[in-house]
Amino acid sequence: MSLEAEVRRLKEERNALLLAHNYQLPEVQDAADYVGDSLYLSRKAVEDDRPVIVFAGVTFMAETAKILNPGKTVLLPDLKAGCGLADSITGDQLRTWKAEHPGAVVVAYINTTADVKAESDYCCTSSNAIKVVSGVPADKEILFLPDMFLGEWVRQKTGRKMHLWVGDCPVHAKLRPEDLQRARHEHPGAEIVAHPECGCSTAALPHVDRILSTDGMVRFAEETRAPEVLVATEVGILHRMRRLNPGTRFTPLSEGAICPYMKQIDLTDVRDSLRLNRYVIDVPPETARKARRALDRMIAS
Ligand code: 13P
Ligand code: SF4
Repeated sequence: MSLEAEVRRLKEERNALLLAHNYQLPEVQDAADYVGDSLYLSRKAVEDDRPVIVFAGVTFMAETAKILNPGKTVLLPDLKAGCGLADSITGDQLRTWKAEHPGAVVVAYINTTADVKAESDYCCTSSNAIKVVSGVPADKEILFLPDMFLGEWVRQKTGRKMHLWVGDCPVHAKLRPEDLQRARHEHPGAEIVAHPECGCSTAALPHVDRILSTDGMVRFAEETRAPEVLVATEVGILHRMRRLNPGTRFTPLSEGAICPYMKQIDLTDVRDSLRLNRYVIDVPPETARKARRALDRMIAS
């Protein structure tokens, strides 16, 4: 039996839902029930009533699914699938930061540990960060964490004063304004889309046609009639974009924009995860209860 068929059979046998992030390997995306960005996958994890969720993504995504679904079994096929951005702030660091700004509202990007979410008032993703920040009462001071590039972009878009945590994604921070300038020059006529975590997202705003979450990029890929699109994010997303629109050439801004965490999981790991029930993701109940409030606000927005 082929590996794909084995995964399908085990999924049925265990009545499991397979979710895959847009940066996952093509073979994993193709086997998934749903492929998408962080917000879309969080919503699917809640809407679908299958009792087992296999999360082909990174740890904070599987933790989020568990917090939102305490009664379901959530599996992450490889525990090495962490996130450099989520590691840039701990619960203790956030508690210290909050103590320096009493009364401030904390808006945490979903790329954070459960501990950090538990200390936060709101969670957001790249697709709803502007909406979430705009909804914070105007008289409130805001602490935004952990990605400073996303934070700066939201600050510019909303006009809200925010304190930004100085964290970044090791993959996106390397995409610099000079890369965009060079690309503009070398690919005249191409449209450029960039993820807001990019190191170029704010400094080079004038060179970019659209700043989008990964699902925003996929929707754009479906609609565009441009001959070429330059894509400033992790290269895994090109699989969906190219399949959805074979008439447009999708070129990565950098071939080296590869997230090592997102590439930990292959289809064999997914199969073994279903077969051996590994690795079970649990969040301490008190942490989960506190984190849930911030996540519910994110899902509702
Ligand atoms: P999206 O929510 O846009 O998919 O981003 C998640 C992520 O980890 C980006 O690096
Ligand atoms: Fe984390 Fe960056 Fe990888 Fe996204 S691309 S999972 S933010 S390290």
